[in-house]
Amino acid sequence: MKIVLSHLTKIFPNRNKKVGGDVVAVSDFNFTIPDGKLIGLLGPSGCGKSTALNLICGLETPTAGKIFFGDDDVTDLPPENRGVGFVFQNYALYPHLTVLQNILFPLENLRGERKLSRETMLAKAKEAAHLVQIDELLERRPGEMSGGQQQRVAIARALVKTPRVLLLDEPLSNLDARLRLQTREEIRRIQRETQITTVFVTHDQEEAMSISDEIVVMESGVVQQIGPPQTVYDDPVNLFVAKFLGTPPVSVFSGEIRAEMLYIGDAPVLEAKGLRDQAVWAGIRPEGFVPSPEGPLCCRLTGVEVMGRDRSVVASHPSCQSPEIRAIIPAETPVDTASDTVRFCLKPAKTHLFSRESGERLRAAV
Ligand SMILES: Nc1ncnc2c1ncn2[C@@H]1O[C@H](COP(=O)(O)OP(=O)(O)OP(=O)(O)O)[C@@H](O)[C@H]1O
Ligand SMILES: [Mg+2]
Repeated sequence: MKIVLSHLTKIFPNRNKKVGGDVVAVSDFNFTIPDGKLIGLLGPSGCGKSTALNLICGLETPTAGKIFFGDDDVTDLPPENRGVGFVFQNYALYPHLTVLQNILFPLENLRGERKLSRETMLAKAKEAAHLVQIDELLERRPGEMSGGQQQRVAIARALVKTPRVLLLDEPLSNLDARLRLQTREEIRRIQRETQITTVFVTHDQEEAMSISDEIVVMESGVVQQIGPPQTVYDDPVNLFVAKFLGTPPVSVFSGEIRAEMLYIGDAPVLEAKGLRDQAVWAGIRPEGFVPSPEGPLCCRLTGVEVMGRDRSVVASHPSCQSPEIRAIIPAETPVDTASDTVRFCLKPAKTHLFSRESGERLRAAV
């Protein structure tokens, strides 16, 4: 089922008289989510992710704009008639019910012609439990299970009505690091098997990048960029997106374009063909630094950390926004660790330039 979001907007009225202005939680969101894909909705706290999800499921009504599931306009449909499965961050299982009863719950509430026989309900509940691999736990209560198991029950409960759309709001945030990894792979597997169009909300860029077919990066209610994770990482449209994706993060330098050349401090570090003279931000990915004795960018060397397959060079530079620069280099690349300084060449494809005024990407001619 494809989902079309058209000019979707949600404005919450301001109740605090001391600070003016209403809260624009989601602003003119336009996106067609292709059928059967998993979309990661990504952004910092308060950027409007949950609001966008609540609009899609019908828990919130939009101030403006429309939502279509396939060709159906569902904008005014109540949540229970939209055919969505929803998983909340805190599982929201009924503590006094067993796992089986929890999964059965949405089916037992079907009325009229959608009402199912007891056998059909049991069969569907067991099928959903099997899909998330909790067949053994059906008689337990939520309090008697680990966080990851409870999360899977919540997913089974969302899947049991065979929803047209699956919506997951930070479903992994209560799990420890290992279980997070496991459960996110599990979600990916289930999504692939069921082919249900899924929107997955997270503020963790690595999580979103690893499981999504496409990611949507939001800030302050406004969609910044939409695309396959690798494309958004390689080709960010603005400084916000560049900084939000990637660990270790991009290193941002204040630089200047003079005569089609990027200067950091007094050093000419990279050609910038076709760009006019101006102050810029230069964002360099960790893999964009190439140690080289003749490299134009001279940094103070703090240390070199061995990570097995590759090494991390930790350095600093007065023009860098953050106190620490992290360069990731192949383990066999030599670095003189006895020296106070390290010199780098920069990979053009890993060095992005941004307008100092707007933060928008500046593209040099190649
Ligand atoms: N019911 C509401 N009334 C007023 N303002 C709201 C309401 N719900 C959310 N907001 C505001 O809308 C904005 C977006 O909130 P939302 O919950 O969608 O963010 P989020 O991206 O999900 O954040 P988080 O990562 O912290 O969950 C925030 O500024 C929030 O304070
Ligand atoms: Mg939220």
